[in-house]
Amino acid sequence: YGDYNQKIDYVFKIVLIGDSAVGKSQLLARFARNEFNLDSKATIGVEFQTKTLIIDNKTVKAQIWDTAGQERYRAVTSAYYRGAVGAMLVYDLTKRQSFDHMARWLEELRGHADKNIVIMLIGNKCDLGSLRAVPIEDAQEFAERENLFFMETSALESTNVETAFMSLLKEIY
Ligand code: GTP
Ligand code: MG
Repeated sequence: YGDYNQKIDYVFKIVLIGDSAVGKSQLLARFARNEFNLDSKATIGVEFQTKTLIIDNKTVKAQIWDTAGQERYRAVTSAYYRGAVGAMLVYDLTKRQSFDHMARWLEELRGHADKNIVIMLIGNKCDLGSLRAVPIEDAQEFAERENLFFMETSALESTNVETAFMSLLKEIY
């Protein structure tokens, strides 16, 4: 700490994908800056943030890319996925449709990304348990079938956000 010339051993590009309003940008804000915004605006184009971490005594810089879930605001697809070694496939566990669309997002991801990419399925907004529309078993079954890691998170309450990103990074590493 305090050493700004710190040597970076690895840079890992991670992409966030999923429908609009599932909480991709807020998961990133929570992980990178420990911030959360309830009136978060829809992302337009591409944004990214970095966070430097120590894993096994190595300095790992996570470069996390976030794009719009809305088709009309989306960035150039191939450029977005290029070089990505990890992906978070995010749905809102109170919105069944956002989970049903995971297969399509996965297809796009597999069509553009490296075949060794590590993928984590994320059911976000677990703070809204009473409004749950996606049983945890459905998500587990999908994740198992598609060979994905899986976790439920809350960007609002900070539940599992750090754990999810760290598990993904350790798996990549
Ligand atoms: P696009 O940029 O349009 O693709 O949307 P997004 O997936 O980036 O969604 P965003 O992070 O902007 O969040 C959408 C809304 O959901 C905002 O009002 C957030 O405050 C809210 N939100 C995000 N995460 C959570 C969460 O864990 N719990 C709750 N209750 N609300 C959340
Ligand atoms: Mg966004």
